[in-house]
Order: sequence, then structure tokens, then C-alpha cells
Amino acid sequence: MRDSDARLIEEILRLNRERNAVILAHNYQLGEVQDIADFVGDSLELSQKAAQTDARVIVFCGVHFMAETASILCPDKIVLLPDMHAGCPMADMITAEGLRQKKKEHPGATVVCYVNSSAEVKAESDVCCTSANAIRIVEKLADSREVLFVPDQYLGHYISTKTGKEMILWPGFCPTHIRIKAQDIIRLKQEHPWAKVVVHPECRPEVIALADEVLSTGGICRFAGSTEAEEVIVGTELGIIHRLRKENPNKRFIPASEQAVCPRMKLITLENVLWSLEEMAPEVKVPEGIRLRAKAAVDKMLEVG
Ligand code: 13P
Ligand code: SF4
Repeated sequence: MRDSDARLIEEILRLNRERNAVILAHNYQLGEVQDIADFVGDSLELSQKAAQTDARVIVFCGVHFMAETASILCPDKIVLLPDMHAGCPMADMITAEGLRQKKKEHPGATVVCYVNSSAEVKAESDVCCTSANAIRIVEKLADSREVLFVPDQYLGHYISTKTGKEMILWPGFCPTHIRIKAQDIIRLKQEHPWAKVVVHPECRPEVIALADEVLSTGGICRFAGSTEAEEVIVGTELGIIHRLRKENPNKRFIPASEQAVCPRMKLITLENVLWSLEEMAPEVKVPEGIRLRAKAAVDKMLEVG
């Protein structure tokens, strides 16, 4: 490690204590950002941590919808997102107005909203889900009403195949996960015949069809620790490889595609984390009217866990 990085880290950790802050980082963050975080996890785990923390400030190292979810759950805390440009392009593929129009076409449908969405879209939804609990949530919808699933068509399609529930799908997608191609997995399986293949449910259906396991990023980390396989082909964003290698030094993790990089996740750096703690900015705050309606959908999700 360079001397300048060591000084930067020392200063971040000092200010983190001084401000009574907690640093939460998503599994796709840069390795050096994951390393200074108090907790690293998937979207569900991070929202659960945010809901439980008694810190006064949450420094969210992830993308905008994740910081917004923390703000929805913790209105009395200061939620900082070190770079406001760190948005999720999939979340931007649907607006509250677009969803209102779709609801008019399907009156009475239950709206299930992937947490990768804005607070305004959550406010228009009945229940949220993450990739970790999406199947459980849809299975829990005991009534036989139509389900409108937004905004990820591939996650929606995957849940539909697992639950047998037909759903109306919004045509959103993750620009990072669609870069992973079936051909990548087929080639890697030939090169590593003993490897297990684990992919994220945002991948294309033909990629999912080739996988041994389809899991959230947190699920991928747990699978990596428990599998007997020595080699694992990993079909998700490249940032997760840092954590997998750190926690499992005796196993080999092979990225399904070197193209699977989420540029917005990489906008968070040690420098802007420090700046954010110094300035106590930029803050993510959801207007109260929207927050209360969005919280109802997030709470319903957290009840299921
Ligand atoms: P996880 O909830 O599995 O961490 O996924 C979040 C995400 O943005 C995947 O692209
Ligand atoms: Fe959004 Fe995809 Fe990036 Fe996840 S990887 S934050 S879904 S663009």
C-alpha cells in the first residue's frame, strides 16, 4: 500500500469515529473501499444493517437507490452518498409516471418492485424485493391477482420460472449483467470442467440456464465459502471477486466476463469517502410524503426477510 493511501485510510477511520458514522459498502465496490467499510454486503443485507444501526451518519458506498433505501428506513440519520452521479441505470429505466400508466392498464395487479428503483417508484408499489428474497416475496403473495414486476425483466422472468407465477414484466435490464454471454460460460466450462457456475439473477435467461446456482451477491459469497468445488465461475459484476478471493484464499474464482463492470459503482473512491465525511455531503434525503409510501413497500419486504 502507498503511504498516501495509508494516510487517507487513517483519516477516513478517524473521521468515521468522530462523526459517529458507519460505512456500508456493496459487494461491487472497489476493493480498497470494501476494505475500509464497517460492513460489506448485498442490497438486502445493507438495508437491514441500515435499519439496525445506531450510528448517526451512514456513509453509503454503493449506488443511489441503496442510499435512498437507507434514508427511507432511517429518516433521522444523515445518509451520505460520496458521489451523487453513482446512479443505477436499471433503476432509471422506470419512472413513477410510467408505472402509474402501466397500473392503469392492469388495475388490481399487485406491483412488486425490485429494490433497484427510485423512492418514487417504490412509493407506487405494493411490495419491494431484492435478488435475495424475490422468490420468497412472490410466493408469499397468496392471492391470485396479476403481478406486475418492475423494472428488471430478467429477474422477473427468473422468478416467474421458479414460482410458476405469470407476471407482467417491465422491459428494464442491467447493462452490466447483459454483457455476460452464454458463450462465455460455455467456453469457461470447457476450460474448467470441475468448476461450479454461479450467476446473479439479473443475467440473461440463457446464461441462467447454464448455471449451477442463481444467487444474490450475498448468496454468492456464502456459496463460495461452503462449496467443495475448488474453482468457481462467477457470473456477476467484477467487484465481488475481491471479497471472494479475500475470504477464500484457497479457491479459484474465474469471472464469467471481464466486461461485467458497473461504472457507476466504481465512482465511489477512498478520496470521495473522505471528502464526504469531511463535508458531511452530499446527503440523500427522501421527501416525507414519498418516504412514507415507499417505506410501506420496503417494510413489507423486510417482514419477509
Ligand atoms: P444484490 O442485491 O444481489 O447485491 O444485487 C444488487 C445489484 O445491483 C446487482 O446488480
Ligand atoms: Fe444497477 Fe446493474 Fe450496476 Fe447493479 S450492476 S447497480 S443493476 S447497473
